[in-house]
Amino acid sequence: MTRLEVGPPHDHEVWIGRELAPPAPAGPVALLYDPEVEPLARRLADAVGPRLQLAVAGGEASKQLSVYERLLRALAGAALPRDAEVWAVGGGTVTDLAGFVAASYLRGVGWRAWPTTTLAVVDAAVGGKTGLNLPEGKNLVGAFHPPRGVYAELTALATLPRRVFREGLVEAFKHGLLTGDPVLLAPWDLEAERPGLEDYLARAVQVKIAVVERDFREGGERMKLNLGHTLAHALEAASGHALAHGYAVAWGLLFATLLGRELGGDDLSEPVEALLAWTEAPAPPAADWETLSGFLARDKKNRAAGLRWVVPYGLGDVRIEEVADGALKRAFEAWRGRAARYAG
Ligand SMILES: NC(=O)c1ccc[n+]([C@@H]2O[C@H](COP(=O)([O-])OP(=O)(O)OC[C@H]3O[C@@H](n4cnc5c(N)ncnc54)[C@H](O)[C@@H]3O)[C@@H](O)[C@H]2O)c1
Repeated sequence: MTRLEVGPPHDHEVWIGRELAPPAPAGPVALLYDPEVEPLARRLADAVGPRLQLAVAGGEASKQLSVYERLLRALAGAALPRDAEVWAVGGGTVTDLAGFVAASYLRGVGWRAWPTTTLAVVDAAVGGKTGLNLPEGKNLVGAFHPPRGVYAELTALATLPRRVFREGLVEAFKHGLLTGDPVLLAPWDLEAERPGLEDYLARAVQVKIAVVERDFREGGERMKLNLGHTLAHALEAASGHALAHGYAVAWGLLFATLLGRELGGDDLSEPVEALLAWTEAPAPPAADWETLSGFLARDKKNRAAGLRWVVPYGLGDVRIEEVADGALKRAFEAWRGRAARYAG
């Protein structure tokens, strides 16, 4: 079992292990869980006797206002008091949504995250971002509301389809590029039941904790976590959101490494290509640079001053900077060439 600490001002613990003991809640519990992980939800319910248990289907379709309203009204209907805790059991969609319910019910109650996908463990459940989607776009509503604790129960990951398990680790691999940790850059033998998983996830979570602690509201350093995401968001949009986020990030990482090479950095593209193969990433949409640039301009993380890229110059050497059009286009051509191999 691994215990990590998120320091002040958001002090809480992140536990990673098997058969984790549920903590004592501060007040009555509302258990919001994905039915895909009902055995874990049942175990937690047996342990804490929640005041309320609500099933919330995993998937993007649940991160919307009507579901949010249903959950809030259920909490209000059960007259849950200010010292109540929301326990979120599921993947990133459920932890994002339930976290936002906790952030806003009675102007904020405590919550605990039980992430049950690899992506939720290494990314969504850590860092305090909660929220939901609007018809106008993803994650347009939300709040920074750190949980009181994160409990990554590894036995729950055993039911994840292999591709979902691997896709979720793209963000962890990204953390490997950010820090140069060779373990994070070699996820190849990981499986839910194998012993190396706990150490791997703990290393990945530790990277996110360290960055978030230094820059909670994404003013500067936290932007490094967006490595690969600028192009990824454009690819997702160009595919009409048919390309899953993890795969889009893997393709975005390949582009970022080729951009780093173009700007005089090391060539880090080889391990990223291995990642694309390991995750069985589908081919990206066949959009040209002009089309993708149109989507880039709409990226909500762009600053008025111009688009800034997260560029890896070497393992553990990642810089945030503006990049000239010519270099972007040359890197894109190189990327297109590699992607063409996947298109068959
Ligand atoms: N808050 C943040 O900082 C942050 C960071 C990254 C991603 N996110 C959000 O996370 C979401 C994606 O998370 P996700 O990939 O976990 O998606 P998800 O919650 O939709 O889970 C993926 C699928 O796996 C199922 N599932 C969950 N746990 C399972 C298990 N143990 N066994 C079998 N099936 C299981 C779900 O029902 C769903 O069908 C996105 O909405 C994204 O915006 C948030």
